[in-house]
Amino acid sequence: VRPLDRFGSIKVKLSLVVVAGVFISAVVSSIGYRLEVPLWLRPLIALGLALLVVYPFSRGITAPLREMAEASRAMAEGDFTHPVTATSRDEVGELARAFDQMRAELAEVERQRRALIANVSHELRTPLTSLRARFENIVDGVQTNDAATAAASLAEIERLSALVEQVLDLSRLEAGVAPLEVERFPVDSLLCDAVASAAPDGLDTRVAIGVRDDLDYVGDRARIHQVVTNLVDNALRFSPDCSPVRVVAGPSEDGIALTVSDLGPGIEEAERHRVLERFYRTDDARSAADGGTGLGLAIVSEIVDLHGGSIEIGTNRPTGCRVTVRLPHLETSAT
Ligand SMILES: Nc1ncnc2c1ncn2[C@@H]1O[C@H](COP(=O)(O)OP(=O)(O)OP(=O)(O)O)[C@@H](O)[C@H]1O
Ligand SMILES: [Mg+2]
Repeated sequence: VRPLDRFGSIKVKLSLVVVAGVFISAVVSSIGYRLEVPLWLRPLIALGLALLVVYPFSRGITAPLREMAEASRAMAEGDFTHPVTATSRDEVGELARAFDQMRAELAEVERQRRALIANVSHELRTPLTSLRARFENIVDGVQTNDAATAAASLAEIERLSALVEQVLDLSRLEAGVAPLEVERFPVDSLLCDAVASAAPDGLDTRVAIGVRDDLDYVGDRARIHQVVTNLVDNALRFSPDCSPVRVVAGPSEDGIALTVSDLGPGIEEAERHRVLERFYRTDDARSAADGGTGLGLAIVSEIVDLHGGSIEIGTNRPTGCRVTVRLPHLETSAT
């Protein structure tokens, strides 16, 4: 029980404790005077009584501090599970609540870090295992290393290097060591280039681009190229063959808005914020044989964040996915 919890300030609490102490010693000395208690004994009795009353009161002031110290020690050892209970409304309570929030956020960062390592190793292991099995068979003479086998191995190796490249890129983006190279560029040529690199030969006829030819954007061209490529790649991969994909760009209040839409199954409402996480794939995508690694949208989201923009995932009527990216213009001098 912390009887002082309902006071909102440490100053008030300390004053109350002092007043209680003074009051007790006054009462004890006047009663002691009447009962003719020896003079040397009166301060001792007052002191004892004051300590007895004040101690439980002051505990309420210091308990959260002790809890925080304990939680910090646990956190230093990597244990983020010690919650700090803050019942008081004063400054210490406020500190304790801020501390607990920090603890929860650090716990989440730690969880993500572990998940990342687990995911990366899992994603690396799959192609490595199949490469290894294939080469073991070749060495044992069970399989010949003909052109088809070599092509399959090469595809696996390309997948591995693409994955490593994506992970490195993502960590560069997150660490902020890859400064944006800001320039003004025409959006239509960017969209054409990006669609061409997302769509292998022949597929680009599925993609319709809608943009005015005088629309410019000020930002990092290569990064925005990456954003469009990833979105178009998803739209092509997650919608039926031959179904159309639309890429539309137009001006928005302080920049541009890019929309990529397809007629595929779309993304369920509940999963819309999760697909931006690293390695997150919906079940449909995970069971698909040619599924990616789930890093594309995480990279898109980092790039959009760096540009101060936003991503909105919605549905395309009657079915399909519609991803809108809003990007404010950057300052040309900004890095
Ligand atoms: N246009 C879309 N239609 C339906 N689902 C989509 C669409 N775009 C993304 N998704 C879902 O979001 C998940 C995450 O997308 P993301 O681009 O991050 O990963 P990926 O395409 O699976 O792999 P990567 O882009 O790394 O090759 C996808 O696996 C898929 O489940
Ligand atoms: Mg993708």
